[in-house]
Amino acid sequence: MIDTQTGFEVHGVRGRFNAAFFGTIGPLLERDLRPHKQRVFADLPRTVVELGAGVGANLGYLPPGSTLVAVEPNVPMHRRLRAAAERHGVHLDLRDRVAEHIDLPDQSVDTVISSLVLCTVADPAEVLAEIRRILRPGGTYRFVEHVVAQAGTPTRTLQRVLRRPWAWTFEGCSCERDLAGALRGAGFARLDLEPYRLHTPFVPFNTQLAGVAHA
Ligand SMILES: C[S@@+](CC[C@H](N)C(=O)[O-])C[C@H]1O[C@@H](n2cnc3c(N)ncnc32)[C@H](O)[C@@H]1O
Repeated sequence: MIDTQTGFEVHGVRGRFNAAFFGTIGPLLERDLRPHKQRVFADLPRTVVELGAGVGANLGYLPPGSTLVAVEPNVPMHRRLRAAAERHGVHLDLRDRVAEHIDLPDQSVDTVISSLVLCTVADPAEVLAEIRRILRPGGTYRFVEHVVAQAGTPTRTLQRVLRRPWAWTFEGCSCERDLAGALRGAGFARLDLEPYRLHTPFVPFNTQLAGVAHA
């Protein structure tokens, strides 16, 4: 069902499945992603905007007592996200919105973060434009995302073959996005990009990109 206010399609069953999936598998994914997150999410300020915060995978990177402005339109995630914020001692300012339309003023934010979100948003270029709009000059967008594999590789073939069931299961997630290209086209002042590969059974997900985009 499309939420008429946010424009986000909330799936009753798959929304709950994904909330439970990320609640359960999240710690396993976290084990693989942690070294990359530790680099890009180091020294976060006391107020951070997170896009697609899910069930709170990144709360542990925020100092206790800090504020997370979480832009998360998927209502089935909200209960777990609230509970996780409480456990981590993080003040949660939850915005039931899509990242294509963030309700924050221009140049009002120092840091935006995301993990595994640009693969799922409806329009990554629009989201990157929103990030640039809300960041102050010198502010940073820090991310850990999964991306399309190099053409001609077995991983790329698998991404192509599995793209439909993958997108259906994970509520629109694409394992075929050239996010490095999207970031380069987004007009940031500087980009530090770090491509890497995971070795998990979720092969289409193994080609990854972490980095910092400077406004
Ligand atoms: C794969 S999950 C990742 C969740 C979390 N960031 C993590 O690392 O576990 C993708 C998240 O993006 C959210 N999402 C999907 N479309 C979105 C949009 N247009 N704007 C903001 N968040 C969105 C989903 O609801 C979901 O929480």
